[in-house]
This record gives sequence, structure tokens and C-alpha cells, in this order.
Amino acid sequence: MRRHLSRIRHWQGVAKSMAINTVLSIPYMRKVVTRTHVTGIDGNEEQAQMLLQFFEGMADIQNAVILELGPGKTLETLQFARRRGAKYVIAADVTNYHTSQAAYRRGVDYRVFDGSHLPFPDNSVDVVWGCYCMQHFRDPQAMLQEIHRVLRPGGRLICRVDLRDHYHMFVIGRQYDCLRHSPRLWRWMAWNRSSYVNRLRLSEWKQLLANSGFHTDALIPHEDVKLLEENRSHGYLSHLDDQDLKTYRFDGSFQRALCLMLGVLANVELFAEYL
Ligand SMILES: C[S@@+](CC[C@H](N)C(=O)[O-])C[C@H]1O[C@@H](n2cnc3c(N)ncnc32)[C@H](O)[C@@H]1O
Repeated sequence: MRRHLSRIRHWQGVAKSMAINTVLSIPYMRKVVTRTHVTGIDGNEEQAQMLLQFFEGMADIQNAVILELGPGKTLETLQFARRRGAKYVIAADVTNYHTSQAAYRRGVDYRVFDGSHLPFPDNSVDVVWGCYCMQHFRDPQAMLQEIHRVLRPGGRLICRVDLRDHYHMFVIGRQYDCLRHSPRLWRWMAWNRSSYVNRLRLSEWKQLLANSGFHTDALIPHEDVKLLEENRSHGYLSHLDDQDLKTYRFDGSFQRALCLMLGVLANVELFAEYL
């Protein structure tokens, strides 16, 4: 009986997500929701300062051209970076949270783009950074290729990535719930929602970054042993190794190789597994 009830609840949740996702395919509805929803630190200056400290710990920003991906409602991080010596700061998002005039008054060049083609020339940026943005990439491979293209050789990508299901982030036992669904069902449930996540695990990010010509400067996985125990009990996660089962977030700094060939050589150990 209990199993039956939990099945009903599960499918109710799926149906609800699909209904919300369908409503959000209407541009007007998306616009309304965009105005009200929370994107993260939402302009909190103290948190923006802390975030900037994290980015500065990973890359030299003096005289740098910086591109922030997915700033959401927070332009303060870039605004402070400019005050601390960055040469030029650009924000690019797939959702329009600011007018370009308001951003300009803060010293930020603000762009909205399609999520797969960055509107910037090759080799034009020193640092690309993003906080809790990359897990939302609809096309991660295309985005990493684009980041590689706009970064100058030797430039850095700095990111903070949350790997949890964004609908059940803090629900014990359900933090990887998104991986329960087939790719097609997941798309129907979440594609139009801001909380959509691409479900890549740490090992997959590492592989994708290496394939795209980045090598790792620093990688800090955030792990939870209780999560590991929980996740081991879920059949739908049986294909994952322990590292992926316990890593719910990672912070990283990745350097764009001088050329793709050098990037491949730097990651030769990773590739060796697949030869
Ligand atoms: C969880 S919010 C994080 C906002 C902000 N970085 C913070 O920490 O407060 C994720 C942001 O990434 C944006 N986003 C999603 N896909 C993106 C993409 N392909 N390129 C750039 N931004 C993207 C979303 O529109 C949203 O603004």
C-alpha cells in the first residue's frame, strides 16, 4: 500500500512539473515569472564581494577582460571587479534580467544571447566566470566550445557548479532525483524552467572540459558521506562511481590550452582510459 501511494505521489510530481514546463513555453508567462523569481544572490552586495574573492583567488583580474556567464539579477560582482582593476567587464545571460542602459550605468556591458553562440570575437576575453550557471547549460558541449573560442590562449574559466536536483536540493534522499527520469521525460518536465539542470556529474564535466581543450588548474569537489550512503541505495544511480555519488558541488579553475593539441596532451591521462 505504501509503495503504491509513493508511486502515485511520484507520478503526481512528474505531471505537475510537465504542466508547469508547458505553461512556461509561453513567452508571456516566462516574462512574468522572470520578474519575480529568485536567481541566487540577487544583488546582495556582501555575497557579491565574497564571490569576487573566490574568483580573485583563482585568477588575476588586473587589466583583465572578464565575461560573467549567467549573472542572473546580480551585476555587483562585475561592478566590484571593475573597481578592483579589471579592464572591461561583460555579463551574458540567456534570460533578460536587466536593461543594457542600467547595466551600462554600473560599468557592465550586458548581453542576452541564445545559450549556445556567445556574441563575442575569438580570443577576446581573459577570464570567463560563472556562479551556479553551468549546470543550467542546455547544450554544455556547445557552450564549452564557445567559452574556449572567446578565451585568449592561456585564459581561464572559473566556475562553481551545483550538481543537485534543483527541485529537491535539500530533501534528504532526493538530491539526485533528476537522474531518475529518462532524458526525454526530463526534457518535458524541465526544459523551459529556470531550475532545469543538465544532470552532468563531476566525471562527465571533467571529460567534457578536457575534450574541449581545457586543463584543470584547481578542482575542489564538495562531498557528503551521508549523500553517498543515500545514493548507493538508489537503483537509478547504480552506474555512478563513489566520487560522483558523493560530490554535490564543485568549484574549479580551468585553463584554456595554448592550442587544442596541447590541451589534449595535458589531459592525456584522462584520455588513456578511453583508448
Ligand atoms: C542559478 S542562476 C545564478 C545567478 C547568479 N550567478 C548567482 O549566483 O546569483 C543561473 C543563471 O544562469 C543563466 N543561464 C542559464 N543557461 C545559461 C547559458 N547557457 N549561458 C549563460 N547563462 C545561462 C540563467 O538565466 C540564470 O541567470
